[in-house]
Amino acid sequence: MDIIIEGNKKKIIQNNLTVPGDKSITHRAIILSSIAQGVSRISNFLDGLDCRNSLLCIQALGVNIEKKSVSLIKIKGKGLNGLKSPRDILDVGNSGTTIRLLSGLLCGQRFNSVLDGDGSIRKRPMQRVIQPLSQMNARIKGLFNKNFAPLNITGKQPLQGINYTMPVASAQVKSAILLAGLYAREATTVREMQITRDHTERMLKFMQADIQASPGQEIRIMPGNELRGVDIDIPGDISSAAYFLAAGSARKGAEIIIKNVGTNPTRTGFLDVLRDMSADVKIFNQRVISNEPRADICIKGSTLHGIIIEREIIANIIDELPLVAVLATLARGRTIVRDARELRVKESDRIKAIAEGLSRMGASIIERDDGFEIMGPTALSGNEVNSYYDHRIAMSLAVAASYAEGKTIIKDAQCMDISYPNFLSAFQKIIN
Ligand code: S3P
Repeated sequence: MDIIIEGNKKKIIQNNLTVPGDKSITHRAIILSSIAQGVSRISNFLDGLDCRNSLLCIQALGVNIEKKSVSLIKIKGKGLNGLKSPRDILDVGNSGTTIRLLSGLLCGQRFNSVLDGDGSIRKRPMQRVIQPLSQMNARIKGLFNKNFAPLNITGKQPLQGINYTMPVASAQVKSAILLAGLYAREATTVREMQITRDHTERMLKFMQADIQASPGQEIRIMPGNELRGVDIDIPGDISSAAYFLAAGSARKGAEIIIKNVGTNPTRTGFLDVLRDMSADVKIFNQRVISNEPRADICIKGSTLHGIIIEREIIANIIDELPLVAVLATLARGRTIVRDARELRVKESDRIKAIAEGLSRMGASIIERDDGFEIMGPTALSGNEVNSYYDHRIAMSLAVAASYAEGKTIIKDAQCMDISYPNFLSAFQKIIN
C-alpha cells in the first residue's frame, strides 16, 4: 500500500496524545511470562505485527494466551521447563527481536525447533547469537551451516554458563544469552562495551530471577530460580513517540505533549539529541511502574542546529537515527552521524534507505560507510520515496513529508503496522 502525505510546514500543531505500548518491552513480557510460574497480566501491550509474531510463536510452544481486551492479555506461564515441542517451523515474520530472543530460550529446552522468518530476516546476521550460544554448548545452526535463518536448534540441558564480552552492541544478543543462562549449570556473565537497552534485565529482576545488573556493570545471571508471573503495565514506546516529537520540534508555534512514555535511560538518547540540536523538550510526571521508568514529554517548536553524533550514544538511539537524518535536513549547519554501521543490518539497510529517500526530497546528504553527513537547512519537496518495507524508514519519511512542500508518496507503507498500527491516522490528525 502506498500512502500520500501532503506537507504543511506552517501548520501550528497543538496536541496531547499517547502512543502504543513499547515494542521491546512487549516482546519480553510475552516471552518471559510464558516461562514464569503463574499468571501474568500484560496491559497496554503493543498489538503490532512483530509482537503478534512473538505471541504466535509462544502459543505454538503450548502456552495459553487469552486476549482480555484490546490492550490486555493474560498469559498462563508454564515454568522454566513446561514449554512443548512445536509442531511446525516457528515463523517470526519480520521480527529480529523474536528470532534472537527465542534462539536463546529454545537452545535450553528438551526439544528441537526451527526458527524462520521473512526475506529480510533471512538476510540478517545470526552469527552474533550462534557464536555465544555455541560457546554455551548449545546446538544451533543456520541452514546449510550458514549464519542466517532458518535456524535449526537441537535442544539441550544443561547449557554451560559463560563469561562473555559482547563484540557487537546488541540488546537482542545480550537477551538471548541471558535467556539461555536460565538453563545453564552455572552462572553466566555478560559484559557490554556499549550499554544497550536493559529491558530484559529489568523484567527478569521484576520476575525474581537471580540476576545482578547495574548500569554499566557486568550482568550476572544464575540458573535455578523459577520466574514468578507478574502484572506488567507497558509504557508508551519512546521510539514511536519520537516521530511526533520530531514533527513538533522544528515547527513554529508547535506544542505537543505525549503522555505515559517509557523513559528508561537506555532508550532516551533521542531526547538528548533533540536538546543538543536546541529543541525545547521537557520531561515531567516521572514515575516507575513494573520496574520501568515512564514520564510525560512536552516539545515546543524551535530552530534546530546541526550536531555530531558518535560512539556510546549510538546504541541508545539506533532506531531513531533515520529520524535524526530527517531533523538534520531542517537544522542549521552540518550534522554528522558516525559509528552507526549497525544501521546497515536492520530491517533494511537504513543508511542507504534514508539517504535515498531524503535525497529524492531535495536534502543534501552524503552516505558514509558507518553513517551520514547532512548539510541543512534544505527546503524539502514532496516526491515518490521508497520505504524498503521498513517501518522506521516509512515513518521517518512521513515526518519529512510533513515538513515538505507538496505531496509525498511513500511506497509500501503498510510496514508501519510492524511497530505502530494506525500510525498514519494518528499522524494525519496532528499535521492536517
Ligand atoms: C531491540 C534491540 C535493537 C533494536 C531493535 C529492538 C530489542 O536491536 O534495534 O529494534 O528489543 O532488543 P539490536 O539488538 O540488533 O541492536
